[in-house]
Amino acid sequence: MLAIIGGSGLTQLANLEVTRRQVVRTPYGEPSGALTFGTIRKAEVIFLARHGYGHSIPPHEVNYRANIWALDSQRARDVVSVASVGGIRADLGPGTLIVPDQIIDYTYDRKGTFYSTTDHSVTHIDFTFPYCERMRQRLLRAAAAAGEEVVAGGTYAATQGPRLETAAEINRLERDGADIVGMTGMPEAALAREIGLCYAAIAVVVNYAAGRGASASGVRLDDILAVSQKAMARVRNVLDYLVTLDGD
Ligand code: HPA
Repeated sequence: MLAIIGGSGLTQLANLEVTRRQVVRTPYGEPSGALTFGTIRKAEVIFLARHGYGHSIPPHEVNYRANIWALDSQRARDVVSVASVGGIRADLGPGTLIVPDQIIDYTYDRKGTFYSTTDHSVTHIDFTFPYCERMRQRLLRAAAAAGEEVVAGGTYAATQGPRLETAAEINRLERDGADIVGMTGMPEAALAREIGLCYAAIAVVVNYAAGRGASASGVRLDDILAVSQKAMARVRNVLDYLVTLDGD
């Protein structure tokens, strides 16, 4: 089954016909909310709002382990993360949709693994390619079928937040090779890999990153909502097609 983790701007899926909601208890504490089960174009999906249904959980306080564990426990196999990001590269302005293929993790103090020393021997996972390629390709095919332009590939920098970055930090991220910046991509992707879920992301650029483009003199937060609302309608369109494509 496909699970969709909605980020800022996507706390509800208008195209989802809800059948039930289920509270899932996990060994890692509470997920961001009850899982919403339903159908999109008759295909079964599970939806979870990453920041809670009232958008009350900031990026550094999301219980990523509980969220991923809960989805896995309900037999999700594939996971699409929808995430809002800032655009670093000049050609990645507000409104751009992008399916990243790499991650650089700058977060800290987040619980980022299911492997603790108490119940596992030391375990490493391969994370050379952090997103599941099968899911990435499925997203790209869905976008093409939906007639929505998406950028196929890019490096996502995961920052700690909740504050936005300084202009110098954005310059450093760019030197490091990052194209977009967000606050929730990690450890979510790594946890999905650890537990064996096929996970990929579709990112929505909602602002130019600090010091870039229209954010040269500061990020105007007031502008983000309108951009996000318009772009999320396009993401919903992609998801509509995604569910009807088979998983392989
Ligand atoms: N930086 C970090 N996270 C973000 C941004 C940003 O500019 N925009 C949306 N999420």
